[in-house]
Amino acid sequence: MQPAVINIFEKAVKKAGRILIRDFGEVENLQIQTKSIGDFVTNADVKVEKSLLETLKYYYPDYSYITEESGDIKGNENTIIIDPIDGTSNFIHGIPHVSIVISKMTNNEITDGVIYNPILNEFFWASKGKGAWCNNRRLRVSNRRILSDCLIGTGLPFGDRIYKDYLLEINEILKVSAGIRRLGSAGLDLAYVASGKIDGFWEKDINLWDISSGVLLVTEAGGKISLPTGMNWTINDRNILASNTYIHNELVKKLSLH
Ligand code: IPD
Ligand code: CA
Ligand code: CA
Repeated sequence: MQPAVINIFEKAVKKAGRILIRDFGEVENLQIQTKSIGDFVTNADVKVEKSLLETLKYYYPDYSYITEESGDIKGNENTIIIDPIDGTSNFIHGIPHVSIVISKMTNNEITDGVIYNPILNEFFWASKGKGAWCNNRRLRVSNRRILSDCLIGTGLPFGDRIYKDYLLEINEILKVSAGIRRLGSAGLDLAYVASGKIDGFWEKDINLWDISSGVLLVTEAGGKISLPTGMNWTINDRNILASNTYIHNELVKKLSLH
């Protein structure tokens, strides 16, 4: 059974999802602002976040909020983290691979999270100790143990975030895996690791709102989260590696070869 907090998150994302769908495909009417090269915000991101905050603040007026578009709102030790559209570049280009991400963190521990793709109506959720789910289906990471059978997701840096080690890492993974996918929504990348669709995922210089729900989904689905170096991941880290656990050590080795 879904915990109460997940029911409220579901209400919030499904309402905001209708706003997202209305604007999806209306590319010529979108107002797009560039934060930096490759990093955009549209009027849809702002409207979706406003709607999420409206619903969530009704139920949780005293909580703290960390949001991508409106910044931080100070409150009590319970924090809600929001990415209104994860995959804004896909959204702008009419590619239906986007999600709304909300998680709850208490005393620096992520306890509940949802990732919703309104276009496919896929509602992913996880709560600590209660498993990871998509709609009514329990999720489990893949069983693949041989890297050459595995698809690995990543997020490519852009603009001044590009650095040469990334090309070396990509090279190492390409040599030994079934391929790399750059799908464009880190939230869905992690949801897909949790679903067993892809077998691993790594990205560097990423924000907490991109991955907060996804880390819980992966661990609740039996997967592993760490830094790409293999060290423990914490909410203050900006680099992440996720996998089905079986291939984790090998991925760490390949990502540390430079
Ligand atoms: C981006 C996506 C992308 C990842 C970037 C994120 P946004 O989020 O998750 O997959 O590679 O690092 O910034 O800007 O679309 O919310
Ligand atoms: Ca994002
Ligand atoms: Ca976003």
